[in-house]
Amino acid sequence: MVKYRSISKSYGDVQVLNKIDLDIMPGEKVAVIGPSGSGKTTLARMLMTLEQPTAGTIEVDGEMLWHEEKGGRFVTAGEKHLHRVRSKIGMVFQHFNLFPHMTIMRNVTEAPMYVLGLDRETAEQRAYEMLSKVGLADKLAEYPSRLSGGQKQRVAIARAVVMRPKIMLFDEATSALDPELVGEVLAVIKDLAAQGDMAMMLITHEMDFARDIADRIIFTDGGSIVEQGTPEQIFENPQSPRLQAFLSRFRQTWFMGNGLQQVSPSAE
Ligand SMILES: Nc1ncnc2c1ncn2[C@@H]1O[C@H](COP(=O)(O)OP(=O)(O)OP(=O)(O)O)[C@@H](O)[C@H]1O
Ligand SMILES: [Mg+2]
Repeated sequence: MVKYRSISKSYGDVQVLNKIDLDIMPGEKVAVIGPSGSGKTTLARMLMTLEQPTAGTIEVDGEMLWHEEKGGRFVTAGEKHLHRVRSKIGMVFQHFNLFPHMTIMRNVTEAPMYVLGLDRETAEQRAYEMLSKVGLADKLAEYPSRLSGGQKQRVAIARAVVMRPKIMLFDEATSALDPELVGEVLAVIKDLAAQGDMAMMLITHEMDFARDIADRIIFTDGGSIVEQGTPEQIFENPQSPRLQAFLSRFRQTWFMGNGLQQVSPSAE
């Protein structure tokens, strides 16, 4: 479904990703964990075509993402090509980015109508199904400013999934939420994951959640994938000293936070 091949990314002299190889299978749920600054968001942003790799290739569903064939050779892709391949990918960020002047219904029908070209009735039908799935069928006519953070994030998820992407990216989708709202959003993501056919890349500090829904966990540090494996391998039997240190630091923060001052694990 997705193939990163020898992907590097630098900003000026600073290399933030170093020759990453990563495959995500159709329907596979991959969680990405790792210290702050290790390159997790950059990895997702390149797939979402928000950042261009400095070197390497990314393939999505059998097609090059950042390159297209012209006259027998691969050249940097134009906007039209990027746009087409990008339509196979959906993303939800930390901050919801809903359109404030549009109702919830219109927030969700906008892209199906203007990007996929669906007529209003079909788009609203699809949007209604999605908004029901995320528990917001009673908020169709509301504006974003009147929703809680958790509700807004559920709209953001509906808005991405209504496009029927082949892969969904979640980058810290719950870390801007008040702790009591995290659960409802994780539950929606978990439901989507259980439906099966959509691949997912989940960047998260919620270790229990990663363990719960991921088929595979990727641990990044210093711009490289340092270790990967099943949740059992990663959490029960980490091999590299860096992953061991990360997990023990994480457990300590989590334990102290919960024991002393109710800091959520995402405060790591
Ligand atoms: N636009 C940019 N210009 C310069 N440096 C950047 C830019 N975006 C990211 N970086 C740097 O790239 C590195 C990786 O950033 P990235 O956001 O991918 O990390 P992350 O693993 O997502 O971290 P976090 O867990 O804090 O979200 C960091 O050192 C960051 O400062
Ligand atoms: Mg990040």
